[in-house]
Amino acid sequence: MVGFVLGFQVNFVSICEVAKAWDDMYEEVYERRERLLFIFKSMLPPLRNKIVLDIGSRLGAVLYGAYVYTKASKIVGVEMNAELCNIQNKLIKKYNFQDRIEIIEANVADRPDVILSADVIIMNNVFEFFMEPEEQVTVWRFLRQTVKPGTLLVTVPPLEETFSQLQTGIVLSEWVQELPPFNPDAAGITLSAKAMLEVKQYKVI
Ligand SMILES: C[S@@+](CC[C@H](N)C(=O)[O-])C[C@H]1O[C@@H](n2cnc3c(N)ncnc32)[C@H](O)[C@@H]1O
Repeated sequence: MVGFVLGFQVNFVSICEVAKAWDDMYEEVYERRERLLFIFKSMLPPLRNKIVLDIGSRLGAVLYGAYVYTKASKIVGVEMNAELCNIQNKLIKKYNFQDRIEIIEANVADRPDVILSADVIIMNNVFEFFMEPEEQVTVWRFLRQTVKPGTLLVTVPPLEETFSQLQTGIVLSEWVQELPPFNPDAAGITLSAKAMLEVKQYKVI
């Protein structure tokens, strides 16, 4: 069956695929917002005067969430892809987020100073799809050596899951302690219980 969308001839199967992709995208964007609300309002403690770092900030969604939902004094995104850094910088300028958000274009493994300055580090699927397993092992060992005790890590997926697929030699129980949400009764949290299980918070010991 053939139809027309925006003047382009497409067959019926394509229309269904586009509609499905649009639905999936809507769901993903919605869930992302819910997840950020959960992380910043329920999981983490209040972040007034703290420095938040998102490793691999991509388009900056986590940074904007931190800006809107917290009083963190500084919110830093490290991103190794130059084009993505340009997009983030344009958005930050457009929405006047420059007073608290900064983008650093770098491989995080080259910036121990940025890691050391952070009170909270967020890692959302950061290395899994962008580095070979050997490179991932190297960067995790770098983080193990560099992140200072007391730093909070928020990871998706949980570190246990990431480490079960890599030979890092890092003993998680000697590095971090999992923490429950700081404010489990925070108002307005609608993230599903299943989606909550994909996010974990740890304190570096
Ligand atoms: C799945 S995206 C993270 C998305 C973003 N944090 C969010 O939640 O919206 C992973 C990003 O990490 C970046 N990345 C991967 N390895 C990196 C590294 N070693 N240093 C800096 N950025 C890195 C990739 O370029 C990619 O943009």
